[in-house]
Amino acid sequence: MNKIEMKNLFLIFGTAKKQALRMLKSGKSKKEIHQRTKCTIAVNNVSLSIKEGEIFVVMGLSGSGKSSLLRCFNMLNVPTSGSISIDGEDITKMNKTKLLNLRRKKVGMVFQNFGLLPHKTIIDNVAFGLEIQNINLKERYEKAKEIINIVGLSGYENEYPYQLSGGMQQRVGIARAIATDSQILLMDEAFSALDPLIRSQMQDDLLDIQQKLKKTIIFITHDLDEALKLGNTIAIMKDGVIVQQGSPEDILMNPADDYVKAFIGNVDLSKIITASTIMEPFRARVQL
Ligand SMILES: Nc1ncnc2c1ncn2[C@@H]1O[C@H](COP(=O)(O)OP(=O)(O)OP(=O)(O)O)[C@@H](O)[C@H]1O
Ligand SMILES: [Mg+2]
Repeated sequence: MNKIEMKNLFLIFGTAKKQALRMLKSGKSKKEIHQRTKCTIAVNNVSLSIKEGEIFVVMGLSGSGKSSLLRCFNMLNVPTSGSISIDGEDITKMNKTKLLNLRRKKVGMVFQNFGLLPHKTIIDNVAFGLEIQNINLKERYEKAKEIINIVGLSGYENEYPYQLSGGMQQRVGIARAIATDSQILLMDEAFSALDPLIRSQMQDDLLDIQQKLKKTIIFITHDLDEALKLGNTIAIMKDGVIVQQGSPEDILMNPADDYVKAFIGNVDLSKIITASTIMEPFRARVQL
């Protein structure tokens, strides 16, 4: 069974949702629908499957619906229609209590601007998610310390966020999201604010953490190199639609249309060519 299964998801912002959905299904464009109904089609008939332990990357131009889609995975955005199953349970049908539990225990979120509590120390920031789960103080601190160690911030437990660099603050954000043992991490351009060296380091760290903790991660980025480095699957969005999803090789070798081609326009192919594709010509040369 897939960890996450999304089927025919639509998300429409505005009041005349039903009228907008009808127009959409009768083939009207996003622009036309917005003009007539003032509604925005943010997610348009998206279906996808995500395996446990996978890093699923979503790319697309600004306004294509990436954040809107991501916020459906913890129901911060309530879809207009369609279903989202996590471990076989449709979260669009959950009541308030179940949803609260889902957000506290199963689906963690890492924000672009860190989202730390400025007046709490690093350890209290990391332990915060455990506090709202009513875990006792001693256990909270033990767990928080362990996670702070995993993200490489040991020694900074009692500092405050303003005393840390942007990269370090981002690690605290990640630590807080994984401290609760959430199996799924939603990351919305989590590394975009970091300078290139720290960003690359954070990507390596995320891959390390993922190796150790086997999270299922949905990661949004504008950066193709980042997508190729992290993604097991890459989905490309345009106007609320996923125009292509597949392995990085798939996307690079068989781009579905010009929009996808534009995205991969100046990719460094050497980063993606797998060992087997390299070995073939090498073997051929050796035989000569
Ligand atoms: N709360 C909201 N109310 C109304 N419209 C919204 C809301 N949030 C997003 N939208 C609209 O939905 C569409 C998709 O926006 P979204 O923020 O998901 O894009 P994005 O791909 O994340 O862009 P970016 O790369 O700039 O973050 C846009 O047309 C936007 O105006
Ligand atoms: Mg966004």
